[in-house]
Amino acid sequence: MKKEDLKHGLEGVAVAISSISYVDGEKGKLVYRGFEIEDLVENSYFEEVAYLIWFGSLPNENEEDFIKSMLSKKRNLPENIVEMMRLFPENAHPMAVLRSVVSMLGMYSKEDNSTLENAINLTAKIPTIIAYWYRIKNNLPIIYPEEHLNHSENFLYMMFGELPEYSKCFDKALILHMEQGMNASTFASTVTSSTLSDIYSVITTAIGTLKGPLHGGANEKVLEMLEEIGDIEKVPEYIDNLIRNKKKIMGFGHRIYKTYDPRAKILKKWVQEISAHEKVDFFDIALKVEDVVVERFKDKNIYPNVDFYSGILYNHFGIPKEFFTTIFAMARIVGWTAHAMEYRKNNRIFRPRSIYNGPKDLKYKDMKGVEING
Ligand code: ACO
Repeated sequence: MKKEDLKHGLEGVAVAISSISYVDGEKGKLVYRGFEIEDLVENSYFEEVAYLIWFGSLPNENEEDFIKSMLSKKRNLPENIVEMMRLFPENAHPMAVLRSVVSMLGMYSKEDNSTLENAINLTAKIPTIIAYWYRIKNNLPIIYPEEHLNHSENFLYMMFGELPEYSKCFDKALILHMEQGMNASTFASTVTSSTLSDIYSVITTAIGTLKGPLHGGANEKVLEMLEEIGDIEKVPEYIDNLIRNKKKIMGFGHRIYKTYDPRAKILKKWVQEISAHEKVDFFDIALKVEDVVVERFKDKNIYPNVDFYSGILYNHFGIPKEFFTTIFAMARIVGWTAHAMEYRKNNRIFRPRSIYNGPKDLKYKDMKGVEING
């Protein structure tokens, strides 16, 4: 293999054939199983879209009852996991907690394999892990899951003990984050699945990959950036300073979208609608950041991605910024598991190459420098 064979970051390399979602990076389109994301967020809710992604079609009434009851019955965690969570360091990052608890759950399950039942089971439990950690970390009593509430309502109830008026918007934000083709975390988890490892290992891999600031971790970093800027007047200087120092501007750019990310467009519209009747912190600064970044990078087609406006929305909903990426994971598990199962149908272990450029034919010497003849 020669250097010219290298596909840095696997850019442009197709690794699977998939019917789960389609991304048109030039037109800024995202389609789940044939349906445009705009139609799904407008007309569906989490359970319906999860069913669509897992099964390939929207549910009829019986199928809807089935998915709702499967997701609502599997929410509880083993009590000794909850006891262990109480011993975790109070400042542990919620993504580190989520990654660790998913991994721990693997000890409580028979060595599975990637069945749909296991996918649903883990999807049901992730909101419980996040909400329990929020309550434990803040010295609040745990709120147990409520079977009669839907997926996102139950999560918000376990977090805050009430059903906030924004719960529908939160549900739609989950739909936006559910699936996005062969992104880094989906690819990493598909690699794990391709070794025929179990679903807990697959999802632990995915969470660890999503956590990075170049991927899902960017939503938390965006809010940190906006807090640091603090004042709309300081935006141009702040951004120019990042550019001068060759630092990435969090929440901007995408490997596939070379135009406005459709998810960012929808999230921005929601924040705009809310801000028409109440103050949304950091929104004015964010709009200015967008103007300056788009202008400075007009030759490179860099626009806001899904992580730019989601944090402003979650912050407005009272969700602490270190929890933002866990919310992303709570939705994306649907895509991760769908891809893991789809790939298994025609499985082949992933095994790419690297191009060696290190030394060859060195003579082995012992610690005293004496050459050993082989
Ligand atoms: N800030 C500054 N420069 C950028 C940014 C950015 N956010 N994004 C891309 N660029 C630059 C690159 O450095 C590159 O410059 P060069 O041609 O001089 O080398 C050029 O634009 C083209 O970059 P791409 O090849 O399109 O970027 P790549 O596909 O390698 O990376 C990524 C994509 C990781 C998302 C990148 O845009 C980035 O780091 N963004 C900030 C982090 C972020 O918001 N991540 C979330 C992405 S969405 C998601 O994962 C859910």
